[in-house]
Amino acid sequence: MASVAADLLSDTLSRPTEAMRHAMATAEVGDDVFGEDPTVRVLEDRVAGLLGHEAGLFTPSGSMANQLGVRMHVAPGQELLADALAHVVRAEMGAAAAFSGITTRTWHGARGLLDPVSVLGMVTTGVGPYQVETALVVVENTHNFGGGTVQPLAAMEEVRRGTAAAGVRVHLDGARLWNAHVRTGVPLEVYGATADTVSVCLSKGLGAPVGSVLVGPADLVAEARVWRKRYGGGMRQVGILAAAGLHALDHHVERLADDHDRARRFAHACADAAPGVVDPSSVDTNIVVLDVGAVELAAPDVVAALADRGVRTYAVGPTAVRAVWHLDVDDAATAAAIRAAREVLGDGRAAR
Ligand SMILES: Cc1ncc(COP(=O)(O)O)c(C=O)c1O
Repeated sequence: MASVAADLLSDTLSRPTEAMRHAMATAEVGDDVFGEDPTVRVLEDRVAGLLGHEAGLFTPSGSMANQLGVRMHVAPGQELLADALAHVVRAEMGAAAAFSGITTRTWHGARGLLDPVSVLGMVTTGVGPYQVETALVVVENTHNFGGGTVQPLAAMEEVRRGTAAAGVRVHLDGARLWNAHVRTGVPLEVYGATADTVSVCLSKGLGAPVGSVLVGPADLVAEARVWRKRYGGGMRQVGILAAAGLHALDHHVERLADDHDRARRFAHACADAAPGVVDPSSVDTNIVVLDVGAVELAAPDVVAALADRGVRTYAVGPTAVRAVWHLDVDDAATAAAIRAAREVLGDGRAAR
């Protein structure tokens, strides 16, 4: 690969800024397994407050926050429902089944968009010993593999109402809920009210090196704390990492709008160069998924051709190429990505 001009592989790649490193270096710390790290407490309380929930739990990863949340709601042998491209389904290594004995059924939403009627139509409860009992619906906002899709609030609220009536819980995978909030202006607390538990990541667009937070009712979070330790996720002087998360909340939320603008600019350029690969109006946030099949290219070839031009992307399907904007991708890098994409897509052959 040529030297990297634009690293669009993932928004997990950004490196801590100098100011974030300073916040980490000067953090007050204690042993968090004993509940004695004051910086972690502040972070957990702050995120819970932002989302309108009672309590929060700092976890090393978004996957652990999701899996703890899922586990709190679903007994072994019960099922969760989720989009077929949801992160909990596709990218958590089967953890719900492997750790918690949970079965999964999926729906197919265009770009990951939630369709309340079909989701609620799948909920199965009170069917005695004949069918698997639905215990949980997982909603992802924004939807990663769907292309950074923002879920309409009304759809989330409808799912919440319908599931509550059936005695079924909702977990919101809000790894990028910050992006949805900045894009729509919907208060985080309003999103928080659409679910029993919410996981949010500090290590994606917000630019912290590590960390997620699970929020929910106090008793459930207390139980999740026990399971976090059981999973090996009890951490000691981890205020160093929580400080990065607090810094990110103070300084890196509103700037997500810049990532969204740059992603949209890139999508427009791709659509101009190769009509049909992407509808720029569908690019809600910081993620662009190109359907290079529309110009008869294969994703691995396009990824390789872009890499030869110094632009790292990711094949998320045979013809799907994902590009993600974050703290370390500025206007110059975006311009470099646009130049490379024009060359690769524009000649219709992904020439290398
Ligand atoms: C929607 C979504 N949920 C959860 C996660 C998991 O985060 P982590 O990589 O920290 O486990 C990711 C990671 O990309 C994600 O995109």
